[in-house]
Formats: sequence, structure tokens, C-alpha cells
Amino acid sequence: MRKIPLIKPYITESTKARVLEVLDSGFLTEGSVTQSLEKAFCDYLKVDHALAFTSCTTGLEVALRALKIGPGDEVIVPAYTYPATANVVSIVGATPVIVDVDKGNMLIDYEKIESSVTDRTRAIISVSLFGNPLDYGKLDKIKHKHDLYIVEDAACSIGSEIGGRKVGSLADISVFSMHPRKFITTGEGGMLTTDNSDWADWISSYKHFGMAPHKQGAGMTFDKVGTNYKLSDVLSAIGLDQIKQVDELLDRRIKLAGYYDSLLASSSDVLVPDTTATGKHSYQSYCIYVENRDFVLNDLRSRQIEVQIGSYALHHLPAFADSAQCRIEGEMPGTNYSASHALVLPLYHDLSHGDQDYVVEELHNSISRSK
Ligand SMILES: Cc1ncc(COP(=O)(O)O)c(C=O)c1O
Repeated sequence: MRKIPLIKPYITESTKARVLEVLDSGFLTEGSVTQSLEKAFCDYLKVDHALAFTSCTTGLEVALRALKIGPGDEVIVPAYTYPATANVVSIVGATPVIVDVDKGNMLIDYEKIESSVTDRTRAIISVSLFGNPLDYGKLDKIKHKHDLYIVEDAACSIGSEIGGRKVGSLADISVFSMHPRKFITTGEGGMLTTDNSDWADWISSYKHFGMAPHKQGAGMTFDKVGTNYKLSDVLSAIGLDQIKQVDELLDRRIKLAGYYDSLLASSSDVLVPDTTATGKHSYQSYCIYVENRDFVLNDLRSRQIEVQIGSYALHHLPAFADSAQCRIEGEMPGTNYSASHALVLPLYHDLSHGDQDYVVEELHNSISRSK
């Protein structure tokens, strides 16, 4: 039986050599290699500041702290996302306001954002889920009308664009994940981006124990209580080649996704969610909708094809459903549908068209068995 994993990190001989070089250097904490990774993100996204973190989650938490969001404040989040999106709101003591997504594309419903805004709303955490970019024209209108911050949980969206502008350069603050499910990976890690120098200084200080910015050597002091969310040079070395080749890696993913599209176009059993008009989907995950999703998922896995659910319905998770410090905004038809139908198919750089033919053939066999 052919084994097809969900993902395979893109690790080359050059990557291994970079990691060994760091190990041999004896300098293993955050240093010049992490700075090179930060600069590579700045250059790619054309943003003023990129700050490495231990994860997207820790970066998002610090983004909210930099915006002084805390107890008494509300932050709007999509109901269909990874729990980290809402966890960070609770971690800083604010209230996550959980809003439905559009079943067509699994992205937050813009009209429902508007109807959820109160005088306590401070921010929206936008999620360009699976790499499908949000419509920033619509988001920016809401932002300006209600004087809100936008923090992009860009965990899945390196390489995504809308109207020719890259996710990571559109929100007040954005944070990418470099977990191995993401196609630019450092094993674990996150990258926060912003054009605001005051926030960048505050954030850099906070993640370095509260060190006063721009003070080095004997004059160095700590002017606030901070924490340690530094990203080691050992991990940064893993991501450096990947970010430098991001466009090439992205082109390959988009071609592979296009091939899945062509194989699935005529299937009446599979629905491919919409992509945002004028957007460039980076296909962090290639996601489809099928009936009897759980059966199909388990059946394909038993045949060594590693598929995965899409994401989570936050309003069904005890962490949020049972929490008094959380607001669930009305019915969630889009999220309920996505959570029960979305299936992610294998996608990685070395996947061949032959592998994809096999995945789709087995997918159809599983769907037939599910009926
Ligand atoms: C939308 C979203 N946000 C946040 C995260 C968490 O990222 P990290 O593991 O880097 O903290 C993920 C991880 O899959 C995610 O998909």
C-alpha cells in the first residue's frame, strides 16, 4: 500500500549545513541567524519590522499586549479556526467574541463582524484560513468605521496576497506560524510583522525580558516586566533557506493545488471551497468538503493516506463553550458545516501528479464506501 503523508517539511542539504554551522558556532540562543530570518521576512513582505517568536501563539499574545488590550476589552475572532486565535484573547484577560464564518470560503462573515461590534470592541483577529486571503477592502472599512485594530493571525498565510498586497503587510500587526504544518518552518516558531516602530520596540523589549530598547552593554537596563519568547538560532537556521526560496515553493504549491482542482472539478461528491476574488491563495492546506467526512477521513488513513480535518468549531470546544468569559455570537451555520465537512488532502513540495491521481482515486473509493 502506498503511503502518502499530509506534509513533508522542505529540508535540503543546505538547511542541514546551516543548522550544523550554528551548532558548531557554540552560540545557540537568539542571535545573528534569527536576525537574518527576520530580515528575510521584512524583505519578502516589504514591512519595516519582523520579530521572531517561539510560536505564532506567543507572538499573537504579545501583539495584543502591545495594543494594550486586556480585561474589559472585546476582540472579535472567527468561530472556525485553530483555538490559538481565541486563546490569546483570553490569555491577556480580554473577551473573545466568536463570530460565524461563510460556508462558501470558511472565512469570517464580514456582516457578522459589524453586528458584533460593541463599545468595548478593540480589535478583530483576522485569519486568512488555509492561506485563502481575507478581503482587506471590507475589513479596512469596518476597522475605520469602528476605530478597531486588526491583528492578523497569519499562521497559515505566508505568500497569500489580496489585490497584489501580501498578508503580513496589511494588518496593524500580523503573526505567522513556523510550525512544521506550515510550508516555511523552523520546527516551532512564529514571526510577527508590523510597520509601527513604537509597537516593534515595545514588543522586542517584552519578548527579551523587558530590556530597555536600544540600550546595550553596561548601560543596558530593564524598564518593564517582560518574558522570554526568543527564537533560537538553531531553529531559525532551519527556516532561512525556505524563506529565501518562498516564491519557488509557493509556485509549486499553487501548481499542485491547481492539479487537485482539475482532478476534482467534475466530481459531484466533492465541493472545493471558494477562493477570495483578486486574492492569491497560498494553499497552506488544500481543503475540500465531503459528506460523511469522518468516515472518509478514517477510511483514507487506514489506507495510509494521511488526511486531516480542516479546523475547529470554537463554540463546540469546552474551553470556550463552557467559559463565562467568552461571547458566542448567535447561530453558527457556516462553522458547523465547515467543521463537519472539511477535509485536508496531502500537499507538499515533492508530491507528484501520480501521487495526487492516487489520492483522488482513493478519495472517490472511500466516498463510495461511505454511502
Ligand atoms: C489559524 C492558526 N492560528 C494559530 C496557530 C498556532 O500556531 P503555532 O503553533 O505557531 O502557535 C495555528 C496552528 O496551526 C493556526 O492554524
